[in-house]
Amino acid sequence: MTDYQKADINDFLGVAALDRTAWLANRHAEFIPDGEHAWRHWVEHSLVFVAKTKHEILGAILAFPCQSGAWCVHKVFVSQDKRGHGIGSQLFGILLKEIDKIPADCFLTVDPVNEAALKLYEKWGFTEKEFVPGYYRPHEDRFVLTRRAI
Ligand SMILES: CC(C)(COP(=O)(O)OP(=O)(O)OC[C@H]1O[C@@H](n2cnc3c(N)ncnc32)[C@H](O)[C@@H]1OP(=O)(O)O)[C@@H](O)C(=O)NCCC(=O)NCCS
Repeated sequence: MTDYQKADINDFLGVAALDRTAWLANRHAEFIPDGEHAWRHWVEHSLVFVAKTKHEILGAILAFPCQSGAWCVHKVFVSQDKRGHGIGSQLFGILLKEIDKIPADCFLTVDPVNEAALKLYEKWGFTEKEFVPGYYRPHEDRFVLTRRAI
């Protein structure tokens, strides 16, 4: 059975471990994972939700508030062999339910070739799209997508 819940402190090492493997098929995968020390803070001080069974973390989503008042959806990832079964979508559902209670705008960035993520974001209302060339390095462009407060 898969549970969807706010991550607790005991989850941070498992989330960090999944963060190290979930991006291996993405471009520039070596630069994407956050460190365990960062996840320790994320779990305690930002909004992190996990999809988990009794034995493993299957996916996670993380958002933090910005000084602008908007929220940044910093990460979403699902274990490679568990994709396509609605886990990413469920994680967005519970995260956005919390952000809509505030309510607040939220934004994220995505590699323009990441079709699966782009479809997922569109489905969850990230409809404003800005192309930012060289967002990280000259050859690493991003879309910045925004979902306005409801
Ligand atoms: C993006 C990611 C989180 C999606 O998670 P998932 O659990 O597979 O997604 P879901 O099964 O909930 O699918 C949600 C929607 O995303 C889209 N989608 C998911 N996988 C897709 C694929 N391979 N191709 C096209 N669209 C896809 C669909 O629109 C789908 O909605 P639908 O089922 O109603 O058609 C997952 O592929 C992942 O972890 N990728 C690696 C990390 C990553 O790239 N994260 C985003 C970085 S910005």
